[in-house]
Amino acid sequence: MTVRRFDEVVDSDVLVVGGGIAGMTVALGVAPHSVNLISKLQLGYGSSSRLAQGGVAAALGKEDSPDLHAQDTLAVGGGLCDPRVVDIITREGPRQIHKLVDLGARFDSDSSGEIHLGREAAHSRRRIVHANGDSTGAEIVTVLTDTIRERGRVGVMEDCFAADLAVANGRVVGVIAYGERGWILCRARATVLATGGIGSVFAFTTNPPEATGDGLAMAARAGVQLSDLEFVQFHPTALACKQSPMPLLTEALRGEGAVLIDESGHRFMLEEHPLAELAPRDIVSRAIWRQLQEGRKVLLDATDVVGSRFPDRFPTVFRLCTENGLDPRTEPIPVSPAAHYHIGGVVTDMRGRSSMPGLWACGETAATRVHGANRLASNSLLEALVFGSHVAEDVLLRVQSVEISPEESLVETDFQKPAENEELKNQVRAIMWDKVGLIRDETALSNALQELDDLKESFESFPGETNNILTVAELVTLAALRRKESRGVHFRSDYPESDRGWDRHLYHEPAPWVEHALA
Ligand code: SIN
Repeated sequence: MTVRRFDEVVDSDVLVVGGGIAGMTVALGVAPHSVNLISKLQLGYGSSSRLAQGGVAAALGKEDSPDLHAQDTLAVGGGLCDPRVVDIITREGPRQIHKLVDLGARFDSDSSGEIHLGREAAHSRRRIVHANGDSTGAEIVTVLTDTIRERGRVGVMEDCFAADLAVANGRVVGVIAYGERGWILCRARATVLATGGIGSVFAFTTNPPEATGDGLAMAARAGVQLSDLEFVQFHPTALACKQSPMPLLTEALRGEGAVLIDESGHRFMLEEHPLAELAPRDIVSRAIWRQLQEGRKVLLDATDVVGSRFPDRFPTVFRLCTENGLDPRTEPIPVSPAAHYHIGGVVTDMRGRSSMPGLWACGETAATRVHGANRLASNSLLEALVFGSHVAEDVLLRVQSVEISPEESLVETDFQKPAENEELKNQVRAIMWDKVGLIRDETALSNALQELDDLKESFESFPGETNNILTVAELVTLAALRRKESRGVHFRSDYPESDRGWDRHLYHEPAPWVEHALA
């Protein structure tokens, strides 16, 4: 083994990996301590947060309450939400919105100056807070980025790739990262993973290319407990085009009354669910998928309900459509489901602590159990804000008592520059889309596992996105194979019903079943 020293060693009390809403919320919350934040691109870019159109669910309306919001969250969660966590995030929703307003966020308001509340699928009340019509994520990301830059207390390490967790004596003591000046050992008393999701492991996704599951893969390699990896949510209405990521046609359009039709104008969702287009997301996605598989086109028609108001009410969607030569004011828009959100992740408790001392996780990287087997729309930005704050509070309590580990106590590593293989990445994405997508079965999943294994053989393993994509693909496939039932976003055509026997979370840890399943 070639052992070389790091090109640089950087110390801080707290190290945050990830520059989306969750990571920035943590960094701002712990700022009295020294904090470094690693961002794969320039801060504020490259995260799914920025692309989030639909907003933040919060029980702010007169007819609404956190209890009703909790009921809706539990109703779609397929029996796997933790009601205590649901209670926390739904109660804290209004406070998080007011905190953002205090930081300067401008949410859309009605004529009386009250925050305007939109409706999305499976919400029984209007409770979606949005900004600039359909660029809510971008507004929050901009406010948090500006605050970090203005306050100047967070050390931002941009264009820096976090390759692996640094572990010494069973404790996470920071991260090994690769930046402009080479390999960096970032040592910290507390390390927080907020690296976002895994959309880029699938051929078609609404996520940015950077969503390669880096945090999940790092945690898996370090032996941190993970769960619910089979639950990948597909957004029903991405614009069916060749663009990557696929442009999102926000669920708020259906909340305003937009309908789904096939080429002949038939509104097929009326036969699928009493709530039609506002049925839970998994039901809408699979219904669209079946239409597409049967060779029909599916279109989202908002010409009657939005029409000429498009440029003002949904400026992002309007721009994305016109960039693709379509006019949503006057014509229905072709849609397809696309990988959108990973419900599973690093298991955390209610303070955001992972199973390994020294490591916290929040945002899409974490499995807090709030979403169960099916996430309610617009609950993810809320979760990122609430758990970002909780992690910061917990880290503040713990951080003083921990010594920074000396460099010598780290396991020696053979450092290689992160190596990427675009062709292999695309092969993995195609396998995942074809065999581990919206409708799964034993044969396809087993074939996927075999094909991923073959690809792994052909790939000399270096740290980097390619390696992470392969790792995450395998973890998701294994979990999907194990869960022999259908629940929420996980649908098995060979086990189409939910089964009370599977009324539990599946954990991935360095456990015997992994070796067994791979044997
Ligand atoms: C959307 O605008 O449809 C996305 C909202 C979400 O995924 O929660």
